[in-house]
Amino acid sequence: MGFRKDFLWGAATAAYQIEGAYQEDGRGMSIWDSLTKEAGHVAWGENGNTACEHYHLYKEDVALMKEMGLTCYRFSVSWPRILPEGDGRVNEKGVRFYQELVELLLDAGIEPVVTLYHWDLPYTLYEKGGWKNPESVEWFAGYAKAVAEMFQGKVRYYITFNEPQVFVGLGYRLGIHAPFEKNEPSVISAITRNVLLAHGRAVAVLRSAGPKDIKIGMAPSSGCVIPKSETEEDIEEARRMSFEANKGGIGGGISWWMDAVFLGEFSKENKEAFGENVPQLTEEEWALVTQPLDFFGFNCYAGGGNLVPPNPYAYDRYSYQGSPKTATGWNITPDVLYWAARFYYERYKKPILVTENGLAAYDLVSLDGCVHDPNRIDYTHRYLRGLKRAAEEGIPVIGYIHWSFMDNFEWASGYDMRFGLVYVDYRTQQRILKDSAYWYRNVILSNGENL
Ligand code: NOJ
Repeated sequence: MGFRKDFLWGAATAAYQIEGAYQEDGRGMSIWDSLTKEAGHVAWGENGNTACEHYHLYKEDVALMKEMGLTCYRFSVSWPRILPEGDGRVNEKGVRFYQELVELLLDAGIEPVVTLYHWDLPYTLYEKGGWKNPESVEWFAGYAKAVAEMFQGKVRYYITFNEPQVFVGLGYRLGIHAPFEKNEPSVISAITRNVLLAHGRAVAVLRSAGPKDIKIGMAPSSGCVIPKSETEEDIEEARRMSFEANKGGIGGGISWWMDAVFLGEFSKENKEAFGENVPQLTEEEWALVTQPLDFFGFNCYAGGGNLVPPNPYAYDRYSYQGSPKTATGWNITPDVLYWAARFYYERYKKPILVTENGLAAYDLVSLDGCVHDPNRIDYTHRYLRGLKRAAEEGIPVIGYIHWSFMDNFEWASGYDMRFGLVYVDYRTQQRILKDSAYWYRNVILSNGENL
């Protein structure tokens, strides 16, 4: 027994990272447009103004997805493209873009998986306090409603928030991502509360809009801790460490967010670690936050994420001096998809969807005009074997979505690190399928039998 017959084989992107066309057809500004102008925020002073020009080249891009045999495509809607002021007025041209994209995907037999929030908060809402403002809950509900109306029941898979730990942690605590702020724990606590409630409101809005078989989840960032060995003691230790409070900073751990959403509580460890900054919710608010979800989605690149300082990589057997790393410096830890699927299923009891996994490299075009990326193939092969083991042991794994469909704007790191299965030449916007894209096509064709 391997992957189920209807397994979703996908690739992912996010609006700000690929669309470009930042001032076209009535799009409003996001925090990433307006706040990255200040020097020092993004490598080489780069930004997403043009990115991959996907806004204009989406037909070509969907054709490439079809050629690769993808059965799903995860993308995000740019909030300011459809609601330029963040709430209220709808931008019809922006709406049409996403409607056409979804029509094309459906015609190509590719299931759209839509992320509502992948970090591009409308600038006008930022000026009103952004996620610090309790009104953000209703702004987000209004945005979810606009998205549901836009897709008229044609989209079945939704993700409310991408990586809350990261956009809150890097954006509001450490000042590395937009809006580049460094706030006190009490502010992170208030933001947590708003984001959790906004998630709940969006779930309610999406579910009441349909379709009937709608599937809603989240996409937290989550490299679990890999056991040192497969003895019961080591497995238990890794399990415990995977969910412990992130002592490196409030809001950084997976349990902080996912226990709230799936279990309706903050754990004892989080309460001990963050005391009065653990958000207080009324019974009614908890009911909103914990509405049942349909899958447990997670973005996963390396094991050992949620560890105690000083050395976050010192625990598992993949971490040693000179151990294999990707261009981002993240350890290559193939078993992480197995352990993550297992630990998250045990704790949250929902079907598992890998919403991101992949490798950054400094890919280049060779003399033969091709992009040879054996490291990406090897990385993905190994990680997928881990996921396959989970499926074979009976864990309900419903899909795997590779990050990324194509090279794109890697936030504060700019464009140097390439995550795509498709190479993008940013001078010409030419796309080239990398060797890994052809390899992935064969994996999909065999439904993972050849792994
Ligand atoms: C996490 C984010 O969701 C995505 O936007 C980012 O590019 C990748 N992982 C790689 O860092």
